[in-house]
Amino acid sequence: MEVIRKIKVMQEKAEDLRRKKKKIGFVPTMGYLHEGHLKIIREAKKISDVVVVSIFVNPTQFAKGEDYESYPRDEKRDLEILRKERVNFVFMPDVREMYSEDFKTFVEVSGLQDKLCGEFRPGHFKGVATVVTKLFNIVKPHVAFFGLKDYQQYVILNKMVKDLNFDIKIKPVETVRDKDGVALSSRNSYLSEEERKIAGAIPKSLLLAKDLILQGEEDAEKIKNIAKEFLISHNINNIDYFEIADPDTLEPKRKCDSRNCLIAVAVRIGKARLIDNIVIKNGKIYNLPKIDGRAEKEKEKEKEKEKKRGVN
Ligand code: PAF
Repeated sequence: MEVIRKIKVMQEKAEDLRRKKKKIGFVPTMGYLHEGHLKIIREAKKISDVVVVSIFVNPTQFAKGEDYESYPRDEKRDLEILRKERVNFVFMPDVREMYSEDFKTFVEVSGLQDKLCGEFRPGHFKGVATVVTKLFNIVKPHVAFFGLKDYQQYVILNKMVKDLNFDIKIKPVETVRDKDGVALSSRNSYLSEEERKIAGAIPKSLLLAKDLILQGEEDAEKIKNIAKEFLISHNINNIDYFEIADPDTLEPKRKCDSRNCLIAVAVRIGKARLIDNIVIKNGKIYNLPKIDGRAEKEKEKEKEKEKKRGVN
């Protein structure tokens, strides 16, 4: 595994790999790696000749007063993990080289960037789109991999790649969860033991909404209120949003469509802001939380239904 810190060196290495016809798979991260990242890296390894992981805590995606300074960092541990995963290259640029004092160019994906989390984290997605563009120009990947926990980020980057004609495929990777269904996140490290237990209500609230939608309830407002009441009754009082939206446009829905919808939640517990979602697209469910084997049962039920409908 080679650790590269200079932009020029990474660009030359990427160019060399491309000349040798190697397929470059890229996994951008902000470090403090967990099983969720490892799943993404393993997916990348399956279809790439060479895997590059970047570790860069990107200041431009943190709004004023957010946790840029205190965001968890552990370079030594991250590098050990990546070495064990047999990653080929780790790109760890210096913040001053990524953003010179006279930095002036930003990428915005208008509309999509203002919805859901965008409303509560002004400038966040502009920072994400900008740094990912820069990383794409440095690492020159053929394929880039992103976790579906950050579903809005995935939708925005997909649109950016399409609109700006990046010759890069974006591959989504499903969320990895703890036993109680809570999505893995570097920010879970902010939670006390008690707060971590409370977080267990987040995936349950998503499942509750999903069940209501699949049972035929169409009134989005009603479902959102039930889910919010559930969260509050489980000591989660600080809810940024619980939304039911179109999975492509992220536009909130008044009437739920049981074959196409995004159920997304963002809450604050102690110092942590946690997000999670379930996506239903063309009748297929993604990111389904698994709680006590429940997701397995759900999949069985889905298969049974498809069999009855005569779908192979
Ligand atoms: O998802 C993340 O970890 C970050 O938003 C990303 C894509 C690495 C950009 O900084």
